[in-house]
Amino acid sequence: MADSILRWGVMSTANIGRAAVNPAIQASSNGTLVAVASRDATRAADFASLHGIPRHHGSYEALLEDPDVDAVYIPLPNSMHRDWTIRAAQAGKHILCEKPLALSASECLEMQAAAGENNVRLMEAFMYRFHPRTQRVIEMVREGVIGDIRAIRSAFTFRLTRPDNIRLDAGLGGGALMDVGCYCVNVSRTIAGTEPVEVQAFARWADSGVDDQLTGVLRFDDDLTAHFDCSLTTERCEMFEVGGTAGHLRIPGAFLPGTADASIHEHRGRNGETEHVVPGADEYLLMVEHFADAVLSGGALHYGAEEAAANMRTIEALYASARDGGRPVTL
Ligand SMILES: NC(=O)c1ccc[n+]([C@@H]2O[C@H](COP(=O)([O-])OP(=O)(O)OC[C@H]3O[C@@H](n4cnc5c(N)ncnc54)[C@H](OP(=O)(O)O)[C@@H]3O)[C@@H](O)[C@H]2O)c1
Repeated sequence: MADSILRWGVMSTANIGRAAVNPAIQASSNGTLVAVASRDATRAADFASLHGIPRHHGSYEALLEDPDVDAVYIPLPNSMHRDWTIRAAQAGKHILCEKPLALSASECLEMQAAAGENNVRLMEAFMYRFHPRTQRVIEMVREGVIGDIRAIRSAFTFRLTRPDNIRLDAGLGGGALMDVGCYCVNVSRTIAGTEPVEVQAFARWADSGVDDQLTGVLRFDDDLTAHFDCSLTTERCEMFEVGGTAGHLRIPGAFLPGTADASIHEHRGRNGETEHVVPGADEYLLMVEHFADAVLSGGALHYGAEEAAANMRTIEALYASARDGGRPVTL
């Protein structure tokens, strides 16, 4: 491996790669995007030429056989994350895999085991965690700025208009909770700093069998609950709020703030609002640079597959509840 630069390959011509992660790799100080693979050789070649990627492969297998690729970024449909991560690990490639890391906690742990056995690194691409604003909110909560926290509210919704989208395909691991609710579960668990003990959820099921709307409640203990809604049917909303005994924090545009300055609104009483402005940052760039740095230096990753497994454990329990009409499910 070239020791100061991580050589990345991207597995597929996915939208999220094209729009955000591939450009972040290309702009990173410690990485370079050397190859793209697609199921379709012409699509791979066209994509490579359009986006300035030196090499292209007509299959994912060929990418894994490319000796000039140190790490792969996997933005495949959710149902394919497990198999391609394990195959990449067996080929000796480090792996940044899209969220949710897999379809279940047990799949996440299998992927972690494969990475460990093959001495490669594995991380889930939850980029919002790398934004300095997210880090600042966590610090403020831990510092007790709003007293004892009692409630976490979050939402991630958008309106999906294309019926052939992977998010509406049950066989590909689609669904609102899998696609965007996973952020709400992740931020709730992260702010709580612990795992929920009981969950409940109510869903609307699309004709394809996926949840296209879901509302969930996570009870951490008797003093702290989180609730959220996610959907593929309602206009865009992404936010979270943390309610404490001495104030509350409101974070608009919580998961995709873009690169402009980002705000944390601190509220106290009826009239007291303070806006904390955090300088803008590219959360995708920070994520890929952290991953590359950990690989190149042998340092620790901030987030391991066990964390992804814990998120999936909660998501699985929420689905169990939603499929049973909202029955409380203990974890
Ligand atoms: N972190 C984020 O900000 C973020 C945002 C959006 C999505 N995501 C995640 O990224 C992943 C991809 O999402 P996306 O919206 O970018 O998906 P997408 O545009 O539909 O791309 C998925 C790619 O997977 C490949 N593929 C292989 N088998 C497929 C199949 N049976 N059906 C459809 N595509 C197949 C296709 O590439 P080829 O044909 O070129 O092989 C396709 O371009 C998901 O896990 C999603 O949760 C993350």
